[in-house]
Amino acid sequence: MEKTVRETIAQSNSVLITDPEEKQKIARSILEALQDWFAITESREEYIRSSAGQPFFAAFMENSPVGFLCLKETGDATVELAVMGVLKNCHRQGIGKNLFSAAKEYAVKQGYEFMQVKTVQMGLYDDYDATNRFYQALGFRELEVFPGLWDEANPCQIYVMSLRRQQTFQDLVSRRRSYRGRFKPGRVPREDLTAIMQAGLDAPSGCNKQTTSLIAVDDPELLEKLRAVIQPPVGETAPAIICVLTRRITAYRDRCFSVQDYSAAIENMLLAAASLGYGSCWYEGHITDTDRIGDQMAKILGVPEEYELVCFLPVGIPESAAVPPKKKSFEERACFNGFFLH
Ligand SMILES: Cc1cc2nc3c(=O)[nH]c(=O)nc-3n(C[C@H](O)[C@H](O)[C@H](O)COP(=O)(O)O)c2cc1C
Repeated sequence: MEKTVRETIAQSNSVLITDPEEKQKIARSILEALQDWFAITESREEYIRSSAGQPFFAAFMENSPVGFLCLKETGDATVELAVMGVLKNCHRQGIGKNLFSAAKEYAVKQGYEFMQVKTVQMGLYDDYDATNRFYQALGFRELEVFPGLWDEANPCQIYVMSLRRQQTFQDLVSRRRSYRGRFKPGRVPREDLTAIMQAGLDAPSGCNKQTTSLIAVDDPELLEKLRAVIQPPVGETAPAIICVLTRRITAYRDRCFSVQDYSAAIENMLLAAASLGYGSCWYEGHITDTDRIGDQMAKILGVPEEYELVCFLPVGIPESAAVPPKKKSFEERACFNGFFLH
């Protein structure tokens, strides 16, 4: 029996195919149906042959393949969208865009920095013009035209896209996880703690009241004193912690935005910590319960009464990987143009 491994790529209906035979079967079924683009038997067969060894994404409708996309590594940091095809009667349904999103997500995760794609230059054939427009809509930019790369009737347009910016931000946001494991020993440099705290201070605040203040603790003796009151213990092996203080002051009329203010600051700090390779966790519930651990910590740190210590973030190099929690799908929590949650 043919063994197929299908892995659904997050946030798209495209499937990563790993079985070489299935790849070739799908590529053949799609490319042979797309004679307007893949009429030359020799090159079509080459695409099908090569697809067996390439990262391969397929889209299905009622269990039949309706499109596919292959990537090809062209350098350490570069990858090419080697070939893609979607059955003509399935165009304009977002299938190509989904395939591309899955491939791009894969390429970013693999650490590629640029993606290129080749097609016939705009302005010569209607079908290829549509392909050009499709690539441009995905965000590809014209790099150069090579008139003689294929043949004179088909000047080759090379498009390129940077995966870098995407990699930095999207990767960071999706990589951040609450880390509750042990930390490696060793101090966190002050400049890193400062950078993390600055990210927190850079967050927006209601009416710019800047109600959030921060105290980083990296003094081992002081950390010991704080640990003694954080019961049951959490973040106890962290070489540093950042305590989040808030002042419950009015922003305008009777509106106080202190919770929103410190929440924005905390998220910025969690992302900044992750970007520097540190693990952390938003410990608020643990210290604001009826046992008022936060108040005891505030006392140890000499925090004046008008401030409340609402949260602390351990900061350190994780010893193990964070356990990712189960999250609902995009469609269950977000939608467009009205309430269409599934
Ligand atoms: C307001 C708030 C309070 C939290 N308090 C705690 C806490 O006391 N202890 C804890 O282990 N995690 C706490 N967390 C972290 C959440 O449990 C965590 O963000 C959630 O499970 C999702 O996991 P993720 O951060 O890896 O996406 C808190 C998060 C928020 C936003």
